[in-house]
Amino acid sequence: MPTKPKINLTGRDFISDLDFSIPETEAVLELAARLKKEYRSGIPHPILRDKTLAMLFFFTSTRTRGSFEAGMAQLGGHAAFIDSQTTQISHGDTAKEIGRIFGSYFNGIAIRQCDWDFGNKYINEVAEHSAAPVLNMQCDVYHPFQILADLLTIREFKGRNLKRRKIAVSWAYAASYQKPISVPQSLIIQLARFGMDVVLAHPPEYKLMPDILEKAEQGAAASGGSFRITHDMDDAFTDADVVYPKSWGCMLTTSDLKESAEIGRKYTSWICDERRMALAKPDAIYMHCLPADRGLEVADAVIDGPQSVVYDEAENRLHVQKAVMALTMGPKKAAVKKVAAKKTARKTSRR
Ligand code: CP
Repeated sequence: MPTKPKINLTGRDFISDLDFSIPETEAVLELAARLKKEYRSGIPHPILRDKTLAMLFFFTSTRTRGSFEAGMAQLGGHAAFIDSQTTQISHGDTAKEIGRIFGSYFNGIAIRQCDWDFGNKYINEVAEHSAAPVLNMQCDVYHPFQILADLLTIREFKGRNLKRRKIAVSWAYAASYQKPISVPQSLIIQLARFGMDVVLAHPPEYKLMPDILEKAEQGAAASGGSFRITHDMDDAFTDADVVYPKSWGCMLTTSDLKESAEIGRKYTSWICDERRMALAKPDAIYMHCLPADRGLEVADAVIDGPQSVVYDEAENRLHVQKAVMALTMGPKKAAVKKVAAKKTARKTSRR
């Protein structure tokens, strides 16, 4: 019988979905499922007693803030909500200083920084200088905790083995704002390496980053899944097991907000409605990370309908984040030792 690999994530950052290997991600999901069960049964699990997490937000949040804060309390620790606008960052605190200083106060630093062509670089720079693990609460490139929650949710509804299950990751029209491309990017790279048949659908202007597409292709080739792109939402939905239609901005086409809005208005027919849901398998699930533009991205009848699992997804944010915090925010001594290795690794490294 094959032995389980020994997993030690103490002191590790989680910035890209691929920072954790498949066995490491499996360990996170296993612990998340256990913590969920215990939480629902009222069994306390103070794994991070007396530990602290800095939650640094440069962007609004409902679920991420609530679930990290609740999660740290449930693990016996404390999460400090820090709004960037009430810090001295605008008066000169650098990413290095934030890493060095918060890394000495806290056992973990979680950051949401979604500014285009900046957020991911900022988070990596903080991580380079932090003795404590750095967790990505969403940047311009990735939203890894959302996708861990999505993966747990898909497994709960479709079973543990996702090989050859079809997921439609589709653009949808929204008018509220140019949403980051991090959710579709993280979805395609994480789910392709878990063997799913990933179909990415978007109008031509809503491209994702070329290196992300490459990672999705590589993940699919290694896992026996598949990855393809279509410009037809109906094609993506046909016979899908999972549909994940959501809006994102056309940042790779234009940085002009007025032009972006004009481009978007050409594609108002890209909505997830009952007709499109009927193209998917009868037991297909509808997913959305929220917030959704109701009536534009999705019809009320779908998001509030029997195939929608949006509340399960939102709840699972809590459980996967607790698992990652419990596994990464270990004893300070171990974390400090890890930082040297972390810096060396980063020299060769990744985004
Ligand atoms: N899905 C998600 O990240 O929600 P918030 O933006 O509300 O945190």
